[in-house]
Amino acid sequence: MSSSLTVELPIMLLSAFSLEQVKPYTLCTPDRLENLATLCHYLNAHAIPGDFVECGTYKGGSAAILSKFLAQRHLWLYDSFEGMPTTTEKDGEDAKRWIGECVATIADVKAVLSAVGTSESSYTIKPGWFETTFEQELPQQIALLHCDADWYDSVTLVLETFYPRLAIGGCVVLDDFGHWEGCREAFYDFCNRQGEKPLLERIGTDQAFWIKGRSNNRSPIPQVNHSGNQSFETLQALEQKLQTLQLELEQARSTITAMETSKFWKLRSLWFRLKQLV
Ligand SMILES: C[S@@+](CC[C@H](N)C(=O)[O-])C[C@H]1O[C@@H](n2cnc3c(N)ncnc32)[C@H](O)[C@@H]1O
Repeated sequence: MSSSLTVELPIMLLSAFSLEQVKPYTLCTPDRLENLATLCHYLNAHAIPGDFVECGTYKGGSAAILSKFLAQRHLWLYDSFEGMPTTTEKDGEDAKRWIGECVATIADVKAVLSAVGTSESSYTIKPGWFETTFEQELPQQIALLHCDADWYDSVTLVLETFYPRLAIGGCVVLDDFGHWEGCREAFYDFCNRQGEKPLLERIGTDQAFWIKGRSNNRSPIPQVNHSGNQSFETLQALEQKLQTLQLELEQARSTITAMETSKFWKLRSLWFRLKQLV
């Protein structure tokens, strides 16, 4: 039995078109974006209350995916917009060369959110270092915490700040659990301090997530296998089919218009009217 907590439907909701649109604005791979979509749909389907929060927005690609599932929720986006902060020993040697990398602008984020059709009123961008922006007014209750902040200190601050605000049944996604050891250590240290024993689910080599309060996968939650890019390809096929159908519809419309304006059609209509009169 698959241990992944996934549902099939949301993939249909996330069009291939959206994925293509966000690609230039994200460092996340399609499987991770698809899983974000899956989890958002899960939260909506189970009416888990609260807003969506992303810490580590960069150019806004993953935020754009989250924004497609907001319904009545609000999306809070936190990023320095000054690139990655300094590392500590816990982040390892490799991490050092990323300091100051990943610089994006607020305009990038607004551009991709607008491209996927999300209105400015449904999100708030909080630019600056977490240490400062987390001191400001925070969302009261959240349903989803997408933590894509890589380093030990950043991930720790994100979990300490937002986990208490996460509704039971809400979800935490750690984008870099398998990639950056600082992220993994921050998670385990946080769990030790809190006495939490999350049922950690993994997507691909990097992403991990858990549902707050969920201790096993026995309960009847729809489960499907993640099959790499297969669903993405299925989506593209569906998109193409839709385009073909739209084309056929247009052709049928022009045929009807041509028929209706032809002499034969006019005579035919006249004949029916005459017949009715007689
Ligand atoms: C890997 S990128 C996020 C990628 C993004 N989610 C995407 O779709 O591509 C990590 C981001 O975290 C931000 N970040 C990390 N630590 C931070 C901190 N302490 N305060 C503010 N921003 C931070 C960086 O500015 C960077 O843009």
